[in-house]
Order: sequence, then C-alpha cells, then structure tokens
Amino acid sequence: MTAEIETALTINNLSLWYGDKQALDAVSLQIPKNRITALIGPSGCGKSTLLRSLNRMNDVIDNCRVAGEVMLDRRNILERGGDLSALRRRVGMVFQRPNPFPKSIYENVVYGLRLQGVRDRRILNEAVERALRAAALWPEVKDSLRQNALTLSSGQQQRLVIARAIAIEPEVLLLDEPTSALDPISTLVIEELMTTLKQHFTLILVTHNMQQAARVSDYTAFMHQGKVLEFADTDTLFTTPGQRRTEDYITGRFG
Ligand SMILES: Nc1ncnc2c1ncn2[C@@H]1O[C@H](COP(=O)(O)OP(=O)(O)OP(=O)(O)O)[C@@H](O)[C@H]1O
Ligand SMILES: [Mg+2]
Repeated sequence: MTAEIETALTINNLSLWYGDKQALDAVSLQIPKNRITALIGPSGCGKSTLLRSLNRMNDVIDNCRVAGEVMLDRRNILERGGDLSALRRRVGMVFQRPNPFPKSIYENVVYGLRLQGVRDRRILNEAVERALRAAALWPEVKDSLRQNALTLSSGQQQRLVIARAIAIEPEVLLLDEPTSALDPISTLVIEELMTTLKQHFTLILVTHNMQQAARVSDYTAFMHQGKVLEFADTDTLFTTPGQRRTEDYITGRFG
C-alpha cells in the first residue's frame, strides 16, 4: 500500500466467538480511507461477522465475545463503555435486504438527524436533498418525498437506505451484500453510486459477486474460516493471487 493513502480503520488481531464457536481468528487489516475494500470468501467464513464487528452490531448477540482491537482514530471502538450511538454515527451500515422504515421517503432520510435532535426545517430539507442526490435517487423521488418509502422499487429502496445512512455523514459505510437482492440494472446503479461515494466515505463491501468485487473495489480481502488469508489491491488479488486458496475461490473452484 502506498504511503499517501490514509487508514480509516485499523483492525488488530480481532477474534470473535459465538459461544464456543470461533468465527473470527486473529484478523488484522488496515482499511484504506476513501477507498472501497471488498471482503470476499465462501459462505460462513466470517465476512458479515467482521463487518458487524466494525460498528459493534454483534453486541446484541448473546454469548458473543471478542478479543483484539478495532482502532478508529486512536480509540479502540471495542472498549467497554464506549459510546455506541456515537460510533454508529461514524460507522454506518447497509444490509442485504433494503430495510426502509414504513414512513415517508423524507422521514427515512432525516431519521438519524432527528435522533440527533436536529429540528430546523431548512437544515433537514437541505440534508434530504443532499443525501438523496448523493445516493443517486433525487431525480426519481424529488416530487414524492411524502410518499411511503415502501412503495419504492427494491433498487430505489436500497438507494434510499444508503441515503439514510449517509445523511448523518458517517466516515465509514459498511455494505453487506447490498446488491444481492437487486436486478442487474439496479445493481449497476448501486455499483456506480459506491464509486462516487468513496470521494466522501470509506466503504467496506461484502460481496459474493467476484465481478462486482473486481469492478468496484480498490482493495480486496479474501477470508476463509474466520481468517483473512490474503489482502491486496484488487487488481493484484484477482490477477496474481498469492495463495492457492484465493485462486481456487476467485476462479470458482470452491466456495
Ligand atoms: N448469531 C450467531 N450465532 C451463532 N453463530 C453465528 C451467528 N452468526 C454467525 N454465526 C456463525 O459464524 C460463522 C460466520 O458467519 P458469517 O455470517 O459471518 O459468515 P459470512 O461469511 O457472512 O457468510 P455468508 O456469505 O453466507 O453471508 C458461521 O459459521 C455462522 O454460522
Ligand atoms: Mg454474510
């Protein structure tokens, strides 16, 4: 990795157990700032678990235990007593299935700002337009902001959920298979969107789609049985993987 690229998150020796089952095994990664990092690997290898650890979504799971560090600036976000809502303002998350709230498009986007106590109508209006533009949804919904979000298509809902996540201006956006429930056109729209979003945010993308990882990500981590086996810039990982298992996976020989 070249020297001028800053690091957004540093993961040091992160291990995680669900009861006595170990799901992450001494993962260390430096996530480059303003880049897209893809996490790939066979089902069950720990991609979602790793992603969820980065904004402590695993906290709510009984029996889940972690060791190691995730450094955001100079703070270990895994430390007990950390401010979870502050963390989630900085590290937002988008899931596989679009999950808008059964509220208007407008109220979906301002949801996080309202939680923060923002009430000024002008500030909220501006935030709605900015986030919807950034999420490449504005032209389609600008005249129907009061419409229920559940009436949107799933591709539009996924962009709405991204707008909701970026309205509070997080630093890192975690995306867990954000296009796997979408048709090819919506997938392409979201892929283009990710590429523009990295100007402002650091993105971490879990995907099962090798073409997608190769198309949109700058760096790729290959995971296997809870470990990161290989981490490299995406071109290198896909053209000259350093490990046999990576090669087998990206060429479809297993996984
Ligand atoms: N809440 C949970 N309780 C117990 N075990 C879990 C839990 N969530 C995940 N696991 C286990 O941890 C391992 C990693 O799961 P994880 O969901 O992170 O995999 P993944 O790489 O995201 O897989 P997929 O590609 O299928 O989404 C799996 O063995 C899974 O069964
Ligand atoms: Mg998963």
